[in-house]
Amino acid sequence: MNNAKNTYTVVRNINQLATPVTDGKPFLRGRHMRNIETIDNAALVVRSDAIEWIGRNSDLPDRFMDNADIIDGSGLVALPGFVDMHTHMVFGATREEEFAMRCSGATYQEIAAQGGGINNTVRTTRDADKSKLRKQTMRFLDKMIRHGSTTVEIKSGYGLTERDEVKMLDVIRMVKDDHLINIVSTFLGAHALPPEYKEHREEYVDLVCRKMIPYVAEKNLTGFCDVFCEKGFFTLDESRRILQTGIEYGLAPKIHADELSPLGGSELAVEVKAVSADHLEHISDKAIELFSKSDVIAGLLPGVSFYLGHNYAPGRKLIDAGAIVALATDFNPGSCMSYSVPLMMTMACTQMKMTPEESLTAATINAAAALKISDKLGSIEKGKLADVVFLQMPNYQYLPYHYGENHVAAVMKSGTWLEYR
Ligand code: NIG
Ligand code: FE
Repeated sequence: MNNAKNTYTVVRNINQLATPVTDGKPFLRGRHMRNIETIDNAALVVRSDAIEWIGRNSDLPDRFMDNADIIDGSGLVALPGFVDMHTHMVFGATREEEFAMRCSGATYQEIAAQGGGINNTVRTTRDADKSKLRKQTMRFLDKMIRHGSTTVEIKSGYGLTERDEVKMLDVIRMVKDDHLINIVSTFLGAHALPPEYKEHREEYVDLVCRKMIPYVAEKNLTGFCDVFCEKGFFTLDESRRILQTGIEYGLAPKIHADELSPLGGSELAVEVKAVSADHLEHISDKAIELFSKSDVIAGLLPGVSFYLGHNYAPGRKLIDAGAIVALATDFNPGSCMSYSVPLMMTMACTQMKMTPEESLTAATINAAAALKISDKLGSIEKGKLADVVFLQMPNYQYLPYHYGENHVAAVMKSGTWLEYR
């Protein structure tokens, strides 16, 4: 597929175009998450990198057609490109041996306590050079596009030394420069306590707060700071200190909260006004209530529950309470090896009792809001960047319904075709 040489790219005869209706808002909360606009027999006009016009095929103005690359969208559904708002995609090596151990009954926590888990990947990531990490991440990103993601967030957190955390953020910046996918980075120096600090946890938190955060902020390596607030990882007080230090240095807070136990990370997220609190498998009813009145985005990662055999986060309850829910893969070598946001949408529907409409909103506009980019991305509307995924299917509800198959036929990123088959 050649990129447009004419002024416009027109995709016409689209089976159905479906997008969250934002009414200018950065996200949709609670029952508004069902606000999906559908246009049957639709057409879409793109100029340069942005959406110029959407509407019914029969209403397509002639003025676009004289100067356009015209593409036939019959058989296809057009949706906003998926925003995978939480991944750990840069890592040294995969961990299929731990998967096998879990299949034989070991738990994620037991494997971590024996030096496996995150610290296993810390060893392989410290050993890997930038070029190896870059090459592997580029390959993963190629796969992500094929599954319809046009924006991917990537965290550091497998280095856990100043040098190796910066190495990871450098790799993320390299792939951001080299890949058409939109990349957003997050500093996660507090992902686990590195083994060499096992008896000196305070010193490691000091290192994160006094050296790493100031450095990544000064070098402008990222705009977000995340922490894994969990038993055996970072306590509530340590997490608060790390996130507040991040805020002082201009890094917006994110948190891995209440994943394995109800520690209270969700309440902390509200306290520090985190952009998102992710996981939430053990969120308390009190925190759900707090989320309904705050702008903290609940980033749900059902692929992790599926993969580790854990409880699912209470997606239905959060939405019924009026919270803002987003979805992501959490792609990482330990707790979810999947590129597929659509698969997460199926799990959101079947396991968390979300509707197809809510799952689409969660994977697009709300996920974009969790990365503070929903002013430009996350819905198909005039003026926004032309990030559109085209899927071989009759309507948008078919996407979570027919799972385990990649239905993506083509992806447009900022007006450029990335994949066509
Ligand atoms: O989001 N929960 C913490 N971190 C990752 C797991 C990373 C790993 O196991 O390597 C997560 O699930
Ligand atoms: Fe994570």
